[in-house]
Amino acid sequence: NAANIGVVGLAVMGSNLARNLASREGNTVAVYNRSRSKTDELTAAHPEAEFVPAFSYEEFAASLQKPRAAIIMVKAGRPTDAVIDSLVEVFEPGDIIVDGGNALFTDTIRREKAVRETGINFVGAGISGGEEGALNGPSIMPGGSDESWVTLGPILKSIAAVAEGEPCVTHVGHDGAGHFVKMVHNGIEYADMQLIAEAYDLIRRGTGKSPAEIADVFAEWNQGELESYLIEITAEVLRQTDAATGQPLVDVILDQAGAKGTGAWTVQTALSLGVPVSGIAEATFARSLSSHPEQREVSRDLPGPEEGLKVDDADAFIEDVRLALYASKIVAYSQGFDEIRAGAAEYDWTIDLGAVSKIWRAGCIIRAQFLNRIADAYAAEPELPVLLTAPYFVEALGRAQGAWRRIVSAAAGAGIPAPAFSSSLSYYDGLRAERLPAALIQGQRDFFGAHTYKRIDKDGTFHTLWSGDRTEIEAEDTH
Ligand code: 6PG
Repeated sequence: NAANIGVVGLAVMGSNLARNLASREGNTVAVYNRSRSKTDELTAAHPEAEFVPAFSYEEFAASLQKPRAAIIMVKAGRPTDAVIDSLVEVFEPGDIIVDGGNALFTDTIRREKAVRETGINFVGAGISGGEEGALNGPSIMPGGSDESWVTLGPILKSIAAVAEGEPCVTHVGHDGAGHFVKMVHNGIEYADMQLIAEAYDLIRRGTGKSPAEIADVFAEWNQGELESYLIEITAEVLRQTDAATGQPLVDVILDQAGAKGTGAWTVQTALSLGVPVSGIAEATFARSLSSHPEQREVSRDLPGPEEGLKVDDADAFIEDVRLALYASKIVAYSQGFDEIRAGAAEYDWTIDLGAVSKIWRAGCIIRAQFLNRIADAYAAEPELPVLLTAPYFVEALGRAQGAWRRIVSAAAGAGIPAPAFSSSLSYYDGLRAERLPAALIQGQRDFFGAHTYKRIDKDGTFHTLWSGDRTEIEAEDTH
């Protein structure tokens, strides 16, 4: 019984993915782990599953039907390279190696190029949904060649989450496109989480409601346009009581947010591409700020406003926060899709943005009904330059912007940090602006560095002789 798919690396994500694969009709799964014990544990715990255990790479390759396809689920970085090297030794041209980890897309581009030399296909696939998603249906974002998709497509469709009857997997684009899109997914995840955290903080400080009461607010929001997995789990976390102290769990968790780097990659990449993902960046930086206790310690006594947040009508305030959250969330997704668009242009990928939004509707961490609206927007206008200018979002922003401004100014006035709310609003107003002070920046650049400027009233490139008689001359364009 030759296996049609293999999994290398049987830690939690790998074994859950292997179990998911084995549970679907038609799949027989070869499994391999560096240390034998994990393989034995998995096959012993799931005697019902169609596993073919292998204890060497040779055995693993021999148990797979051709073209062979194997998904690597090991740590990103050096461990991934080591497994790829071993598989390349035992695989043949036409076979497929899939990296299902959170690899940096530039590593994926490099690996794809190197592996392609051997005639073997290398596919970087973003897989989202955590341990539970891996087991029951993740959202999958594969890159790689068209040839590999012929074999992989049906297998990945068999295990992916399903949204409105459609499997949450699509061939995103060539080489590193899948991992690029997964990276941006994580950036959006960071922004979404930070926005929710700011909303919670404002409600708590503004109304004095307890975490359990705020859990009810989020549960209610989850019935409306904010419906999403992250809102849903926020209610669960806020409702949790700490067994040891009887306190709300959120009050005993150390307030220093961790990060494994994918948010930072999203921002670094956006900086290189010149894409203003300011909301995602603020969310990433907010985690960094929280995680410097020594800096927070010496800053505690910095002067702040006399008065905290004063809220007269708690319900009205909470509705304002909801609208500010919704508007900022639209900005975060708009910025994320802007980065995908720019990445596709830079790396020569053909990425269907509507298809990406559809495969995020289920399985992944940012899953939400909201993604349907993004799909609609790109269906109506595939080349839409700014997602938030689609009619549906314009209507939503129009409804929300008053509340958004009230919340951002209330937060600033009361000395409550709301970096993601406020930077999203600044981005929005920056886009809207008829004129930006960028004109002054150009003047300054020209003054100190003769960097030149363009004029609004005629073509050409100009420089003012600042240290001479201050007349204007035509100049070479230096950008
Ligand atoms: C997913 C998640 C997953 C993980 C990220 C973020 O899509 O399943 O994005 O990949 O949660 O690595 O983790 P950090 O918050 O630790 O950076």
